[in-house]
This record gives sequence, structure tokens and C-alpha cells, in this order.
Amino acid sequence: MTFKKIIIDTDPGQDDAVAILLALASPENMAILGITTVAGNVPIDLTTRNARIVCELAKKSETAIYQGCDRPLAHTLVTAEHVHGKTGLDGPVLPEPTMPVQDQHAVDFIIETLRREPAGTVTLCPLGPLTNIATALQKAPDIAERIQEIVLMGGAYFEVGNITPAAEFNIYVDPEAAEIVFACGAPITVMPLDVTHKALVTQPRNDAFRALNTPVGIAVAEMTDFFERFDREKYGSDGAPLHDPCVIAYLIDPDMFSGRQINVEIETKSELTRGMTVADWWRVTDRKANALFIGDLDADRFFALLAERLGRL
Ligand code: RIB
Ligand code: CA
Repeated sequence: MTFKKIIIDTDPGQDDAVAILLALASPENMAILGITTVAGNVPIDLTTRNARIVCELAKKSETAIYQGCDRPLAHTLVTAEHVHGKTGLDGPVLPEPTMPVQDQHAVDFIIETLRREPAGTVTLCPLGPLTNIATALQKAPDIAERIQEIVLMGGAYFEVGNITPAAEFNIYVDPEAAEIVFACGAPITVMPLDVTHKALVTQPRNDAFRALNTPVGIAVAEMTDFFERFDREKYGSDGAPLHDPCVIAYLIDPDMFSGRQINVEIETKSELTRGMTVADWWRVTDRKANALFIGDLDADRFFALLAERLGRL
């Protein structure tokens, strides 16, 4: 795997938190140029607070955090407290953060970084609604060809929706933003519910986090304990799906994932199917393939990596 320079765009959320921790624990694989926050699971003030909490939990308070957009491009904000709790990071009791937030807006940080770094050397890792990324592309269209890759969590095909019958949350919240991102021409790898619902924190896997017996290991066990109730109730699944950490694990060990290079379009017109990712998995159209759509992972390898890396913090 090649060393990556990344920007994590995130709406923490317990699963975002685990993704950020995995990235912070993997300095031999990636350098985090910055963490940009976006409104999603909870409003922007809480997603920014939560990003700070997670960096301090990992003892990485030098991480640069930039606050971003507080609402989607065209809709009113839809949040997910019913999944993540009132704070967005319910489960563990963690201290209020003291580390700073950068003055620069997240969108300007994304633009400036992509223009400064050599073209094709920065990977964007969106873990929430795509509002910041789309706004940056609208403000500075020249950055599209400078992006090495966009590896995002969002969408669904065989798994269908988790916030409506048709749509996954990140895409549903800001479908216009997703439409801009999927059309921008940068290489895109998508971690949809089709794969993230196979990354379930079963009890033995949760026990492995707790058995690390560190503040990070215990906090992750408590986060995923809290976070699983929604999926257990709705899907009867055997544990919380670790959606966002799939993005970071892909950067570390892409071979644990498999998928297809296909066309993915975003529904933005119909209220009924708003935010649906129309994935041409069977290639029945002649629409241009614009994304690597991941459908499977080696879950044991994923959780072994996660436990090993979290154990470092
Ligand atoms: O649908 C799951 C996605 O929505 C995850 O990124 C979760 O954190 C929420 O943002
Ligand atoms: Ca998220």
C-alpha cells in the first residue's frame, strides 16, 4: 500500500470517531493534513466538538481541525440523533475538549491544500454528507483534477436505504452535493452500506476492543455498544456496522475489499427516492463508469487490523 496524504471530512458520529482513531494510529500509512467537520449526524457545533474530543482521546491534540458547512446545499439539515444520541458521541463519558479549531473555513482549507500540494497526491476521505467537498468544487473547479482519489462512505444498492427506503444517510442529507462530487471526474471509491453492513461489531469483536484495556479501547467498546441498538432494532443485525472505518482501512489494506468499477448516479429530483445511489452494478446502461463501488470485505482481517491499530493509542 502506498503512503497517503489525506483530509478526513467528517460528521462524528461514533463510527466516524473509530475511523479517525484508526487514521491517527496509522502514521506509517498516512499523514492527516487536516480534519474538516460537516453537519450531518448532529449539527456542526457538535460534530466539531466531537472531532476535538476524539483527537484528544488519541492524545493527538496537535491535529488541525477546520469547521465546515452547517447545512446542505439545497435542503434543511436532517440529523441522526436517533442513531448516535443527542451529542452524536453517546456511549463513553469523555471530557469536554480544549484543543483549538483552526480559523480557516474547512472549504477554504480543502481548496488551499489541493492547490498547494503536488497534483494527484492528496486523498479526500469524506465520512459524512458531501457538502464541504461539493462546495469546494463549486468554488474552485480547478481542484477536481488535482485530487488523487476520493474514498467516501455513502450510498447503497443491494442494501437499499437506512434513512429512507431508498437512500443512505450521507447521500440523503445532501444529494445535490453528492451529484456534484460523483460528476467531478476525480477517481472515486465508494464504501456503501452493501459493504459496511458486513463490518459488524459482534460481541467477541467488542470484547476485543474492551480487552485492550486502554482509554481508547474502552471508549470504542462503549461507543459501539451504544451505536448498535439502532441497527439491532432495525435489521436484527448482530452488532453495530462500522461504516466509516472502512474508508481508512481501505487506504491501509485495499486488498481486504472487493467491488466493481461502475456508473453511480444520484437521485436529486424525486422526493420519494431523494439521495438514492443508482448503481449500475449489472452494467445495463452505457453510462460512464465513475466509481469503484465496494461490495465485500474480509471482516476478520478488518477487525484484526482495527484492534491492532487501536491498541497503539
Ligand atoms: O449511513 C451511515 C453514515 O451516516 C455514516 O457515515 C454515519 O456516521 C452517518 O454519517
Ligand atoms: Ca459519518
